[in-house]
Amino acid sequence: MSSYQEIYQSWKNDPEQFWATAAEDIVWEKRWDQVFDGSMGNYGRWFKGAECNTCFNAVDRHVVDRPGQAAIIHHSQMTGQVREISYEDLLEEVSAFGKVLQNQGVEKGDRVIIYMPMIPEAAIAMLACARIGAVHSVVFGGFAAEELSIRINDCTPKLIVAGSCGLEPGRVVEYKPLIDKAIELADHKVSGTIIYQRPDQTPAQMGENDHDWETLMQDVKSTGQLAPCVPVAATDPLYILYTSGTTGTPKGVVRDNGGHMVAMKWSMKNIYGIEPGEVMWSASDVGWVVGHSYIIYAPLLQGATTLMYEGKPVGTPDAGVFWKVIEQHHVKVLFTAPTAIRAIKRDDPSGLLMDKADMTSLKTLFLAGERADPDTIEWSARHLRVPVIDHWWQTETSWAITAIPYGIEKLEGKIGSSNLPMPGYEVHILDETGSELPAGEIGAIAVKLPLPPGNAPTLWGDDQRYISSYLTTFKGYYETSDAGYIDEEGYVYVMARTDDVINVAGHRLSTGGMEEVVASHKDVAECAVFGMNDQLKGQLPVGFIVINNGVERPVEEIEKEVIALVREKIGPVAAFKTAITVNRLPKTRSGKILRGTMSKIANGEEYKLPATIDDPLILDELKTALSQRNIGT
Ligand code: COA
Ligand code: AMP
Repeated sequence: MSSYQEIYQSWKNDPEQFWATAAEDIVWEKRWDQVFDGSMGNYGRWFKGAECNTCFNAVDRHVVDRPGQAAIIHHSQMTGQVREISYEDLLEEVSAFGKVLQNQGVEKGDRVIIYMPMIPEAAIAMLACARIGAVHSVVFGGFAAEELSIRINDCTPKLIVAGSCGLEPGRVVEYKPLIDKAIELADHKVSGTIIYQRPDQTPAQMGENDHDWETLMQDVKSTGQLAPCVPVAATDPLYILYTSGTTGTPKGVVRDNGGHMVAMKWSMKNIYGIEPGEVMWSASDVGWVVGHSYIIYAPLLQGATTLMYEGKPVGTPDAGVFWKVIEQHHVKVLFTAPTAIRAIKRDDPSGLLMDKADMTSLKTLFLAGERADPDTIEWSARHLRVPVIDHWWQTETSWAITAIPYGIEKLEGKIGSSNLPMPGYEVHILDETGSELPAGEIGAIAVKLPLPPGNAPTLWGDDQRYISSYLTTFKGYYETSDAGYIDEEGYVYVMARTDDVINVAGHRLSTGGMEEVVASHKDVAECAVFGMNDQLKGQLPVGFIVINNGVERPVEEIEKEVIALVREKIGPVAAFKTAITVNRLPKTRSGKILRGTMSKIANGEEYKLPATIDDPLILDELKTALSQRNIGT
């Protein structure tokens, strides 16, 4: 068996040969003319000239070897139901839904928005798009109508496929009114919707252009209409996934078909150590990249079983639910965000509920989405008695930049570090001028181009934004917008973002986007939103607002309205619950708002008085305002 060092070195010696070998694990309709063409796209493209189909590799090919094996186990704590879908059944559902989409006029290259809770129909809709060469864009259910409408305008879908509702503890989230509002707000007009009416829940009210999932499926099934796989170019888009950027407009991260399959399949065996037939559980949501990669595509490409979980780590019904699910379904690898473990630890600090479950099937816990704090790693390793591995990645990359490749070598992870660069990634720490920093010094984390397969080749319809966001600051590198350092042994430590993105419960959110909404309130003159450290969610957004002169209403009323506005425009996922009225904001003499200084004060951190500050007394005013809410020093 090779070691991590050997494998990493073999990639470095000949990257094209490395990925060409990995690509042998995929069934291609037509093999590539060139493994990598550096002259194509923004930094080159993988598997030029190849043709393939992602759905074929994720579903059809396994029906030969493992027809009866569960492809998906859906475990819902919200409805109390468990449903298993074999590869054979999944093929039938996906082929039928592919036909439904085609009958609705969806063709290769058309976009389809999927707005669904954690139910198998979300996976079926995604795979059906892949099958017919359509490009899906899944929108997380916790986003509001306006966010959905922004995505409708950007990717101009032909159709929206949705579930009638999501189930949050104590609350049913009716999707249909949100969709109707989003369609009304959007300039681009979709031709219609397909709604999956969740059994035993309040049905969605259907309009003229709304079609019932079940009826359409019965029609095609009863007449034996099934969609075959449509071959697409390896470089054609498989999906678009929107993520927060530095402004309110989200970035439409594009994923291709060929390179993505190669990277997903390689990572399953080599990073997660999952073989065909084994069970992987990524406790995330299909609306996030973790869900795309490790709930749907990678486990299915590997012929494994994916566990799709609807529920929370705590409160559904208690902090023992994860462990019972692992026992019940023989989960080998659990992947979640540190915030979920912190929530469990808060409710069950001694891990008593862990001891009650038989978790002998569990071999590793992988954490990502935010930095895994040492306490969370140590606590979970102590109680689970399995290795706990922090690994770092982004929506843009679709798989880990750094990790412990557990399928290659069971190396010890270093606590506080997100571990070692994976093959494909040459990670550097740079200063503002682009010069390399020595081991141990914090700087911008950049990845030497070209990026490996699976990474976004562009942003939907916006090459220019891709170039300016990622490829301009450091020539020849991809700018991650994360800051950190590498130690003497090559372990990478990811410490903070360098832009205005904050990380709330493992969800990536733009404070700039929130500021746009807060500033749109009629009584707000100006505002600043920044992240405040939170023991459970990692960070929480806090907003300072300055109210227009002459407004006489109580400030508490305005603060409540501002909070409600963010929930209405961005969605509950923003978790924006603190707005504080102040008389003025600290600025430089040239008028730039000093967000960094405010954030340090709110977090009780040391800060240097900025030399260019307009009036230092403002900082004392802010401290007083914060201490009145028990925040900061
Ligand atoms: N649809 C609609 N609303 C949703 C939603 C969805 N799919 N997911 C979350 N929300 C809502 C929640 O109900 C909550 O609303 P509230 O303000 O009315 O309470 C709000 O969005 C914030 O949700 P969340 O951040 O998830 O907080 P929570 O208090 O409900 O749960 C945790 C806290 C830690 C248990 C939860 O965040 C969690 O399990 N996180 C795991 C992280 C994760 O999956 N990250 C993905 C990347 S790996
Ligand atoms: P997303 O695109 O939503 O997956 O968010 C990506 C961002 O989350 C990264 O740029 C980091 O800021 C943060 N992140 C993800 N995983 C880690 C990790 N293991 N350690 C530190 N930060 C992380």
